[in-house]
Amino acid sequence: MDLISFRDLDKGTVEKIFGIAEDMDHQLERKKVEKLDGIMATLFFEPSTRTKLSFQSSAERLGLQVVDFLADRSSLKKGESFTDTIKTVDGYCDVIAMRHPAEGAARLAAEVANAPVLNGGDGANQHPTQTLLDLYTIRKLKGKIAGLNVHLVGDLKHARTMHSLVYGLGMFGAKVTMVAPKGLELEEHIIHEAEKKFNFKMESRDSIDLKDADVLYVCRVQEERFADKYEAAKVKKEFTISADYIRKGKKDLVIMHPLPKIDEIPPEVDAMPQAKYFEQARNGIPVRMACIKMVLEG
Ligand code: NCD
Repeated sequence: MDLISFRDLDKGTVEKIFGIAEDMDHQLERKKVEKLDGIMATLFFEPSTRTKLSFQSSAERLGLQVVDFLADRSSLKKGESFTDTIKTVDGYCDVIAMRHPAEGAARLAAEVANAPVLNGGDGANQHPTQTLLDLYTIRKLKGKIAGLNVHLVGDLKHARTMHSLVYGLGMFGAKVTMVAPKGLELEEHIIHEAEKKFNFKMESRDSIDLKDADVLYVCRVQEERFADKYEAAKVKKEFTISADYIRKGKKDLVIMHPLPKIDEIPPEVDAMPQAKYFEQARNGIPVRMACIKMVLEG
């Protein structure tokens, strides 16, 4: 079993993962984690802090050992192909967690590897374990997902976190409002696919208005995916979620961000009780522990 795209999951499987993650949370609290056997290989061909370290930490907490592939110091530099690298690493481990700038790379790895593959992001395409931890966080903080007003703000065109998340929000019956700088809107085919599959309508707005928002989910401008860096720098200056915006919203608004945040959320917001992004990042541990256990045990 692999975890490549949120599209491959049904609601029952997602709920099962949440159940295992809750159990992991309890085991971590009691400092008594049931151990598994095996080795995880982490192959990150793109920069990462949270996804890579939380996969590694989750694996270690479960008693697995971790081998790490460093793209810059590997035979990739000598010209080795991606599939040869994957076939080789497959012989050294029991589970692979990976990230790659090319869309479809995780799917290709899953085809050539016998070990289960966990996709930690493939280009602008998908980031399924991020969506699982995002939904887990909303459920934990709000007690439910269905019926909540979730506002998605930022570079919806290039952010894989958003591409996975709209699918998850549709699955769990949230109401989705999208606010993107001009030219960075979520692509029509993704909107249509999610709306059709989950029989709901997502709303688009030109400006941020948090009056009715229960959850505000922000992402940065994905500069590395712009052909024109000047354009990226220009858009970056256009949107900042200031503390003033947040004061106008509901008292129990939950602010989320997959991180890293750059200028879109100023540091003074971190101290506001609504800011939950570091707690969100911490939830990556029980959720990724659950994903590892699930794919290892089939
Ligand atoms: C995100 C990613 O890599 O897609 N980070 C993450 O995994 N938490 C978001 C981003 O880079 O903006």
